[in-house]
This record gives sequence, C-alpha cells and structure tokens, in this order.
Amino acid sequence: MRLSRYFLPVLKENPSEAQIVSHRLMLRAGMIKQSSAGIYSWLPLGFKVLKKIEGIVHEEQMRAGHVPMLMPTIQPAELWKESGRYDDYGQEMLRITDRHDRDMLFGPTNEEMITDIFRAHVNSYKDLPLTLYHIQWKFRDEIRPRFGVMRGREFYMKDGYNFDLTKEDALHAYNRHLVSYLRTYERMGLQAIPMRADGGPIGGDYTHEFLVLAETGESEVFYDSAVTDLSFGDREIDYDSVEQCQGVLEEFTTKYARTDETHDEALFNEIPEDRRRVARGIEVGQIFYFGTKYSESMGATVQTGDGKPQPVHMGSHGIGVSRLLGAIIEANHDDSGIIWPEGVTPFHCGIVNLKQGDEAADAACDDLYKALTAAGLDPLYDDRKERAGGKFATMDLIGLPWRITVGPRGLKNGVVELTSRRSGESEELAPEAAVAKIVEIYEAHPSPQGF
Ligand SMILES: Nc1ncnc2c1ncn2[C@@H]1O[C@H](COP(=O)(O)OP(=O)(O)O)[C@@H](O)[C@H]1O
Ligand SMILES: [Mg+2]
Repeated sequence: MRLSRYFLPVLKENPSEAQIVSHRLMLRAGMIKQSSAGIYSWLPLGFKVLKKIEGIVHEEQMRAGHVPMLMPTIQPAELWKESGRYDDYGQEMLRITDRHDRDMLFGPTNEEMITDIFRAHVNSYKDLPLTLYHIQWKFRDEIRPRFGVMRGREFYMKDGYNFDLTKEDALHAYNRHLVSYLRTYERMGLQAIPMRADGGPIGGDYTHEFLVLAETGESEVFYDSAVTDLSFGDREIDYDSVEQCQGVLEEFTTKYARTDETHDEALFNEIPEDRRRVARGIEVGQIFYFGTKYSESMGATVQTGDGKPQPVHMGSHGIGVSRLLGAIIEANHDDSGIIWPEGVTPFHCGIVNLKQGDEAADAACDDLYKALTAAGLDPLYDDRKERAGGKFATMDLIGLPWRITVGPRGLKNGVVELTSRRSGESEELAPEAAVAKIVEIYEAHPSPQGF
C-alpha cells in the first residue's frame, strides 16, 4: 500500500474523550471512529488489525479441531424464553420488535441459538464430541461503555460451544480450549494468564478468565509471580490427548492466580511474600464448563449406546476479539505510539522515502516494495511529499515493527537503514539484505492473509 492512496486519518492532537492510552492511540492512529457511545467504525488500519487477530483466532481454533460457522446477530426471543434467560438478562439486552410485532434481540451471546441448532440436527452419541464456534458481532447495552473498544456496546467476539456425552469428555474440551487460548494469545505477542474466575449462579470450579496484566485493566487480580514465568512456546501438542491437555491445564493453573471474585486471602498468604502480586488485568477471554444447564432446559439430548436419551454436557468459550486490540496496545506502546507485535501488525514494515521525487530514492523504494510484496509481505510505503520528521512520527504512531529508510545519501553508498520500532536500533545494509532480514523475521510469525 502506498500511503498517498491509503486512508489514514491520523490526529495530531490528543482526543480529549480518551482516558486510557490504547483508546487515545487508536483514535490518533486513525484506526476507529466512534459513531455512538460504545459503537465504532473500523477504519482501514483498525480493520486490518482486527482481521489479523480474527485470523489467528480462526487458525488456532481449527488447529484444535473446532468447527467454524456463523450465526446471525439478530435472534428470536423465543429461544431465550425457553432457556429462561430472556427476563434474567435485563437491560443489557437490546430488544427489538419487527414489523409483525415479533420479539427479537441483538445477540449478546449464543448459547441458546447453538443449542437449538444442535438439537435440530444431532441425535446420537456417535456424533460427539463436537465443538462449534463462530466470530460474530455482539451487542450488550453496557451501562458504562468506555475505554474505546475495550468496553464497547457493539463488540466482536469469538464464542465456541462444546457438546460432549459425559462430564469427563466435556472437561477434556475445556482443557483443549485452555491450550488453544494460550497459543492464540502468545501468537499475538501477549501473555494472558488463566485465572480462576467465578462461575456465577451455576457455580463450579470450571471457569477461567484469561487476563493481560495492565494498570488500566478493569479487574483486580491476585497472583503468584511465578505464573508470569510460564509460557507455552512452540511445543507440539496433540489436542486429542487427554493427558497432554490436562498436563498443560495443571501447569498453568496450579499456582495461585485469581480475580477479585474468587480471591481467597488465606490461600494467597501461603505464597512466599516476595512472590505475592496484587495488580490489574484486562479480561481477554473466558472458558466455562456448565454441564447440562442449556441442554436440559432446551431438550438437547442424544441417544446413548443403550438407547436412552441423555442431555449433553456443554461449555462455552469466548475470546474478546475487538477488545484484544486495546489490550495489545496497552501492553505494547511508548510515548511515540503503538508498537505492534509481529504477529498482528497491520503492515509488515514501513518504507520511508526521505526525498520523494529524487530519481534514485524513488526507484529504490519501488524496488523494495516489489521485493517485499513478491516475498508475500505487506509493506506500507510513505510516498508523500512530506518532511522526514513527519513521516517518522506517523510511522512511530501507527507502530509498524520495522521501518526501512531510503535516502539519496545512503543510496550513494549502496545502503538503506533498517530500524526496529521496539528497540529503536538502526543498521545500515544493502536493500536486498534488508528485505532478506524482514522475510526471515516474519517466517517466525506466520500471520493470516490481511486486508
Ligand atoms: N462490552 C464488551 N466490549 C468488548 N469486549 C467484551 C465486552 N464484554 C465482553 N467482552 C469480551 O468477550 C469475552 C467473552 O465475554 P464474556 O465472558 O461473556 O463477558 P463478561 O465476562 O464481560 O460477561 C470477554 O472475555 C471479553 O474479552
Ligand atoms: Mg467473562
């Protein structure tokens, strides 16, 4: 993409409505525009990152054997009346009446709808296990939408649902989700710590929230600092192996890590004092086993081997796809702007032409652009007639991890400059060597095809 042809409405001034850094930077970098409270348009740069994140979520869900599909945003109220949640959900649910006076709603989540699909098509235990998921817009009429995409009213969420014959099988599905989530967040350059959460009225020990530590997080969290040393890394995992998935769950959830809802002061105080941490975190996902709550109320049963109908064991597992942009920026920025992790960056690198109109500089930039594109990468070429300082400031603000700077003086010596956004370090090298280095860097961060 050439910047002169792109739509990147950056703001020079700090928007006064933004209270936290991620919201401020998303507005300044021209990623989003609010249309009403908690509802945003995704401008090209924001849309690109959203789709990258969505792509990683898809890849990791499919790797775990979960099946993608898509349910509508608008749901009939009947389903929610069946489960009993139509009244319970309260004012967060946006209720709609169509022209025939039918009660509809904009879905805040999809347990009822997926259970309805399941009961219509699955009758036998032989069709289990099954995990279906989708990534779809949700609406919750939050009383206090704030912090930009972090707590929106309309937001993009991955929600997956497992259907299993027994509790034991459903717990394997739970563990599988935990493993796939660890991989997902790490690919985005995030550490998201599974913390024991509150099961709400259904209760039970089987729910974990994934929290990214950040001062601006809405949740208070308590943990053993040893949990921050854990990382999933690039280990191989067999998602069908009950032992392997259980092993990962134990590794990542045995040390103390809880949100304020389940915090237990006595247990916390058993941790050596120098390892006790009280901090804040952003909830970027949650996994939940809830047994037969919906399958019983909505009649989602399968025939077992001896022909008896049995309600299936279910769980639901969510990832806050749009919230993740905010969380990633909270964890990756400096005074000059965003610093995208390689896995989610909107463009792989920037090309800055120091002297637009200079024949040699223009030609070198064109060659770099072609070479990077031919290697399957997606560069952003700042080809505007602007001062170098302004070009650097824009690149720093939008946070591309790598920048190649091209100027007539360097070209005389056969070199361009390659700069890391994160470290600020630069090196001079031949244009071909710069391309080779960027190609090599991104081999370690395969990212889904962008927009
Ligand atoms: N209002 C919101 N805006 C943006 N993301 C949200 C919002 N509410 C929930 N999410 C994201 O969706 C994920 C799954 O939702 P869920 O656990 O049902 O939400 P909650 O815990 O707020 O009830 C959450 O972990 C969070 O990352
Ligand atoms: Mg939650």
